[in-house]
Amino acid sequence: MCAAVRAAAASNARILSSFKPPPNVVVVGGTSGIGRAIALSIGQHCPSASITIIGRNQSAADAILSQLGSNSKFIRADVSLMSEIRNATKKINVVDMLILTQGILTMAGRTPTTENIDNKLALHYYGRVLFVQELLPLLRSSQNGGKVLFVLGGVNENPSKINWNDMSLENAYSLSAAANHTASFTDLAIKYLGSQPENTNVAFTHANPGGVNTPIADNLPFWARLPLKGLMAGLLALGLRVTPEDCAEYMVHGMLGADKGYTYIGTKGETVTKKKPVQVEMVQKVWEHTAQIISPNH
Ligand SMILES: NC(=O)c1ccc[n+]([C@@H]2O[C@H](COP(=O)([O-])OP(=O)(O)OC[C@H]3O[C@@H](n4cnc5c(N)ncnc54)[C@H](OP(=O)(O)O)[C@@H]3O)[C@@H](O)[C@H]2O)c1
Repeated sequence: MCAAVRAAAASNARILSSFKPPPNVVVVGGTSGIGRAIALSIGQHCPSASITIIGRNQSAADAILSQLGSNSKFIRADVSLMSEIRNATKKINVVDMLILTQGILTMAGRTPTTENIDNKLALHYYGRVLFVQELLPLLRSSQNGGKVLFVLGGVNENPSKINWNDMSLENAYSLSAAANHTASFTDLAIKYLGSQPENTNVAFTHANPGGVNTPIADNLPFWARLPLKGLMAGLLALGLRVTPEDCAEYMVHGMLGADKGYTYIGTKGETVTKKKPVQVEMVQKVWEHTAQIISPNH
């Protein structure tokens, strides 16, 4: 562990253990990779925290729960489906920190769910905003101040490249458009959410985790997976990628340090202010589109 990670971890431990009452944390995508490491890190720094992890993999969840405090639990849900998110959030009655890390790496084209939303867009964007929307009343009333962390972003999101005629990419789907829409929409959605007067007790953060050696590439076909895994191991050895554990400390550090409103953070949890320009109308347009897609009437 390098000095920067040690410093972030020490600060996280100090802040998390000072929360009274201990925090209630929800980690969506907490069964693997970055989410798993964040759940375990918070559990280690603050053993009295109540941590709820959400995902599909029961055996992975059981292994994680065995390392967390007795008031932690698993909610099994396929969070590519808005209906399952609505059911899952009904099982949560208190939350101070909502951490959204669900996601996939795939080279497939548009893959509609049974609700006719592309699977990747549902996981990386629409379902995350639905989690926020459903849990916002609880986050607003958090005694420690509500915190929402979206782990997704990249350095290349560019709102000027949004396809405004096909925002959910039903016709013009490509991997680069999906990556740009999900990350740009997240930037714009937290700008919207963080600017609403009723959300003044909530800090919304969008984080770019950078390159992290997680199992995310495991489902790629072998001809793509093997070279990518080799490359990931090489870059880790060169210090150009990080372990999930180190990434978790940086992400939690950025989330805990974020002010109310909206904040963008980089790979080491540092605040990022240099972003591509955004016009006010974009924020409203993305919010209206999102509200329509995640509506029960969609
Ligand atoms: N790793 C990187 O280098 C990197 C870089 C930039 C951005 N990111 C982003 O960071 C996020 C986390 O990535 P990671 O590397 O930690 O990935 P990971 O290890 O593969 O973990 C992904 C998590 O998402 C959950 N998930 C996927 N599909 C789901 C579904 N249909 N329903 C419920 N849960 C589902 C998985 O849970 P179950 O298996 O239990 O369903 C798992 O907990 C992703 O959005 C990824 O795009 C990662």
